[in-house]
Amino acid sequence: MNENTSLIPKVIPEENCILIVDDEENNRLALKSRLSRKGFKTITACSGKEALESVAKDKPDLVLLDVNMPEMDGFEVCGKIKGGVGEGFLPVILVTARGDKESLIKGFDIGADDYIVKPFDGDELLARVRAMLRIKKLQQALFVCDREVVRLSSELKGKYHYDNIIGDSHAMEEVFEIMDGASKITSSVLIAGESGTGKELVARGIHYSGLLADKPFIPVNCASLPGELIESELFGHKKGAFTGAIVETKGLFQAANHGTLFLDEITEMPIGVQAKLLRVLQEGVIRPVGGTEEIPVDVRVISASNRDPEKAVKDGKLREDLYYRLNVIFIKVPPLRDRKEDIPVMAQKFMEEFNAKFKRHVKGMSEETLSSFLAYEWPGNVRELRNVIESCYIYGDIDMILPKHFRLPKNKLEKKIETSFQQTDAFLTGIPALKDAERGAEKQLIEKALRDAKNNKVKAAKILGIHRSLLYKKMEAYNIK
Ligand SMILES: Nc1ncnc2c1ncn2[C@@H]1O[C@H](COP(=O)(O)OP(=O)(O)OP(=O)(O)O)[C@@H](O)[C@H]1O
Ligand SMILES: [Mg+2]
Repeated sequence: MNENTSLIPKVIPEENCILIVDDEENNRLALKSRLSRKGFKTITACSGKEALESVAKDKPDLVLLDVNMPEMDGFEVCGKIKGGVGEGFLPVILVTARGDKESLIKGFDIGADDYIVKPFDGDELLARVRAMLRIKKLQQALFVCDREVVRLSSELKGKYHYDNIIGDSHAMEEVFEIMDGASKITSSVLIAGESGTGKELVARGIHYSGLLADKPFIPVNCASLPGELIESELFGHKKGAFTGAIVETKGLFQAANHGTLFLDEITEMPIGVQAKLLRVLQEGVIRPVGGTEEIPVDVRVISASNRDPEKAVKDGKLREDLYYRLNVIFIKVPPLRDRKEDIPVMAQKFMEEFNAKFKRHVKGMSEETLSSFLAYEWPGNVRELRNVIESCYIYGDIDMILPKHFRLPKNKLEKKIETSFQQTDAFLTGIPALKDAERGAEKQLIEKALRDAKNNKVKAAKILGIHRSLLYKKMEAYNIK
């Protein structure tokens, strides 16, 4: 390892301030002169009381503390320094004539970091000071890392909280309801849905909105690893367990301990590994490949599949017993074609995201664009919609997304665009049945639905057969409180 890559932090003496505490002036001066010659900044205190004041006021980097002092001895001062609530680590080296074992043990037990017996060798004292300052630097680096981990984990919680999943269609409301319940307990969750519907987003949403939000979320794609590898990937392996196992490696189960393991594409996991997975889930212990010991693990499992899980069981792709184990809570994420009312808000949110990312100012999409989006089947679901919108950004800083900015495969257009224009109109202004009703009758209808639903807007919207956002608009228009 060369100098630049060394993990041991270099200590630049001038940066460090050493507090010398001794009731004897000669001792203070001797230490002061030795440390100053080596470039350290020094301050002195002649009693325990003064030392504590100096620690609070001058914030030294290290304390050289005499033990035998009148009134407050070094042990007591050390105990007070270490018991303080100050941020960070302040190394204390006891400097004493008491070389007996009991004093030494007492010093360490009270919290001292090192101990040097008088008469001491000057070079040894300097070496101990430098060593302690290196430890202090490491501790500072660790403190910064800890803060960064806290920052990043709160960023993840914000980013993946299920509030950020777009969609307020009935179909998605049901998904959110189950997610909400699932995030409050730690039972297994099985998520099914076509590719690109947002299964991983749902899995992360449950984790980062729930009880385990501060614990790890470890995703593993069961389809991308060959059989032999997936086992060691999940459960770890011992050194020499197979060719290439040069060092002992912990598995993803251990990495996810106390958190969530997300088993994506579970139906693609080899059947043999599924049996081992089931055993782990039942017994709560893993056995690394090539090992004999059993390691307890406490992991919440969320799994996902593009296939219909029941059909996968019938087809022999998923073990039935494992299916029951994984399927405590079941979430079916609906395809986008079954919740087209989510398209406008999704498109808008994606535009906001890409405007920020590419520094553009796309304001929205034309009616024709929305119309063809509503007429399209979206076989690639939300991922495809997001990609189509992103692809429009090749046209520079356009104002609106127009049909000429994207291309959708014609054979996946459900209906003729003209008919879907009517749909768009109905979609934008309200359902035709309500639109045709007399204003008074409509108001009464809404009021009745709200009464029947005990003022629950979601239920009232369901009774009326309209979307919740439309209900709010109508309530505002009719001044219904
Ligand atoms: N409701 C949603 N709101 C916002 N973004 C979404 C939503 N659903 C999906 N996405 C976005 O669509 C993309 C695909 O989502 P995700 O990877 O979760 O899908 P998936 O169901 O796991 O797909 P696959 O089966 O292919 O792995 C991601 O970029 C995701 O952020
Ligand atoms: Mg996925």
